[in-house]
Amino acid sequence: MISEATEFQGRPVAVLGAASGIGRATALAFAAKGARVAALDVNTDPLEGFADDLRTAGAEEALSAVADVRDSNMLNTALKQATDDLGGLDHLIFTSGILRVGALADMAENEFDDVFAVNMRGFWIAARAALPHLQAGPDRRKSITALSSAAAIRPKASSGAYAASKIALSHLVRVLAVEQASSGITVNAIAPATVDTPMTQPFMGETNASHGYRLSGTSPMGRIAQPEDIAEACLFLSSQASSYITGITMPVDGGSTAAMPRG
Ligand SMILES: NC(=O)c1ccc[n+]([C@@H]2O[C@H](COP(=O)([O-])OP(=O)(O)OC[C@H]3O[C@@H](n4cnc5c(N)ncnc54)[C@H](O)[C@@H]3O)[C@@H](O)[C@H]2O)c1
Repeated sequence: MISEATEFQGRPVAVLGAASGIGRATALAFAAKGARVAALDVNTDPLEGFADDLRTAGAEEALSAVADVRDSNMLNTALKQATDDLGGLDHLIFTSGILRVGALADMAENEFDDVFAVNMRGFWIAARAALPHLQAGPDRRKSITALSSAAAIRPKASSGAYAASKIALSHLVRVLAVEQASSGITVNAIAPATVDTPMTQPFMGETNASHGYRLSGTSPMGRIAQPEDIAEACLFLSSQASSYITGITMPVDGGSTAAMPRG
C-alpha cells in the first residue's frame, strides 16, 4: 500500500525525550502531519508551552507530561494517562538518552550505571509499558522507534559506556521486533552520528572537559546532521512505507559509518 500524505492525521504518538534535540524535532514533525502528540520527558521546564507549540505546528491534539524512563511506575502512569488523553497509542518514539564521557579506567560507577539506566534499561521499561496500549487499539500501522547511535556500529574511545548501552539497546530492538512480529508492531532503531543538539554542543570544538572524547563531526556529505534529519527517519519508520521493516538499526549519518573517509 502506498502511504498517503495524511497518514499520521489524528494518529496518537508518544515521544519520550521530547524536551530537547531530536525528540523535540520529532514531536514537531508528527505535529506538522496532524498527529495527536504526547511530549514526555524527565525535564519539564522546556516542556512549558510546548503543547501549544505542537498545536500551532498542526497537531490535532497535544499534551506534555513528566516521565522518567528510569522509573517504571512513573512511566506506566504517564503512558496510560497519555494514551487515555490521546485516545490510544499507535507509535512510541524513544529518544531519551544521556552521554557521559571519559576513559573506562576513570569512569565512576554511578555514571556508568546512569548511562545504562536511561539508554538501555529505560528503553525496555518504556517499550514494555507501551506494548499493551499499542496492542489494544485498532488493527492498523503500529510501531516503536528508538534512538540508538553510530556508537553502536563504531564505538569510540572515551565513550565506552555510552557505546555499550547503545549496542545493547539495538539488541533489545532486534529481539523485541521478533517477539512482536506476529502482532504487526514493528520495532526499529536509528543510528545517527553527530547531530547538532544540546547533547553534542558542549563537545563542538576542543574543550578541556571533553576527557579525550571526539565527536564524529562533519559527515562525508559535508555537514553535521540537524535534529530534523533524524525526525524524518522517525516518521519513515512509523509510516506505512516501512511496514515490512522490523528489527533493524538504521544508520542516518550522511555516510559517517559506511567507510573510513579519504585521508
Ligand atoms: N546528538 C547526537 O549527536 C546523537 C547521536 C547519536 C545518537 N543520539 C541519541 O539520540 C537521542 C536524543 O539525543 P539528543 O541529541 O536529542 O539529546 P538531548 O540531550 O538534546 O535530548 C535528550 C533528552 O532525553 C531526556 N532524558 C534524559 N534522561 C531521561 C530520563 N531519565 N527520562 C526521560 N527522558 C530523559 C533529556 O531530558 C532530553 O530532553 C539520545 O538517545 C542520544 O543518545 C544523539
